[in-house]
Amino acid sequence: MNFVAALNDVAAKNLHVLEEQIKLSIADDPFIYEACAPLIKGGKRLRPMLFLLCANAKSPCPPEKTMPLATALELIHTASLVHDDIIDTSKKRRGVETANAKYGAQIAVLVGDYLFAKAFQLVADNNYGAQVQLILSKLVKNLCVGEIMQDRSLFEVPTLAEYYTRINLKTAVFLSSCCRLGAIVAELDTREVENLTAYGSGLGLAFQIIDDLLDFFGDEKITGKPHGGDLKSGVITLPVIRALDVSDEADTLRELVTRGEVTRADIDAAIKIIQAADAVDYCRTRAEAHIESARVNLPLTLTTSVSLALEQIADFVVDRTR
Ligand code: FPP
Ligand code: MG
Repeated sequence: MNFVAALNDVAAKNLHVLEEQIKLSIADDPFIYEACAPLIKGGKRLRPMLFLLCANAKSPCPPEKTMPLATALELIHTASLVHDDIIDTSKKRRGVETANAKYGAQIAVLVGDYLFAKAFQLVADNNYGAQVQLILSKLVKNLCVGEIMQDRSLFEVPTLAEYYTRINLKTAVFLSSCCRLGAIVAELDTREVENLTAYGSGLGLAFQIIDDLLDFFGDEKITGKPHGGDLKSGVITLPVIRALDVSDEADTLRELVTRGEVTRADIDAAIKIIQAADAVDYCRTRAEAHIESARVNLPLTLTTSVSLALEQIADFVVDRTR
């Protein structure tokens, strides 16, 4: 299913403006534009779209009030991916060469920093106020803590609780903050703000579980990145955690994923073991449970079209191929 097809009219119109604003936001400096334009092109825009849908959830919100923050959210996300690719020494993202592969880590760090600074400039220039800034600061802090947790325990098997803490910090807090910010900008009541935040959180957990599955089983041409990347960089995710729990070949798998060096053949062997166990079904079931919890949190007070779009985004998250 195409994610954009899930958008209601308001959001689809906003998407058009958003694309322009994102392009404009990197146009101040010719090198930044050259470095970022290809990378920025391939995103799903999930984060700004969640924000825009929530901001328009009960009545249309003027674009002047929403666009700068929607753009800032996509810039923060892109900045985090640029830095993530340095950390993971990834060569490809969104189907194109990563900034670190193209310009080296030194320049790529600064490209990420620039995007990050530009995001906060947009927020400051448009007077969103302390509450919005606090949510943004906390979400970035959480991203960093999640990433640090992950990178301090490479090639180690996390417990289920550790895995969930990590994906919550890395992904769910970001998606829930986008929904929360939309609800706050639209001045929805406290209960609606909390429910939309909970919707984003369930969505985020499901999103990351599916991301972790796609890392093993996604089509490289569609995901835009080589499969097995997590294992190669030592990040052990739910498909492996589950297979280690239930597979007859758990010892082989454990040795393979904790050795500290993972070859192409190791990735293929791990995929076979994961497939032979019930790990794929297990991950899908877990993702669907989080999506269900997202759905039940959708407030009944939203317009039908926004409610439908948020439901369809929930479907997209579990059915997606990229
Ligand atoms: C991609 O996930 C990466 C993240 C969700 C977060 C990365 C966060 C940081 C590097 C710290 C924050 C930095 C800034 C500038 C805000 P993934 O690695 O699971 O997925 P992938 O396969 O797409 O890389
Ligand atoms: Mg990564």
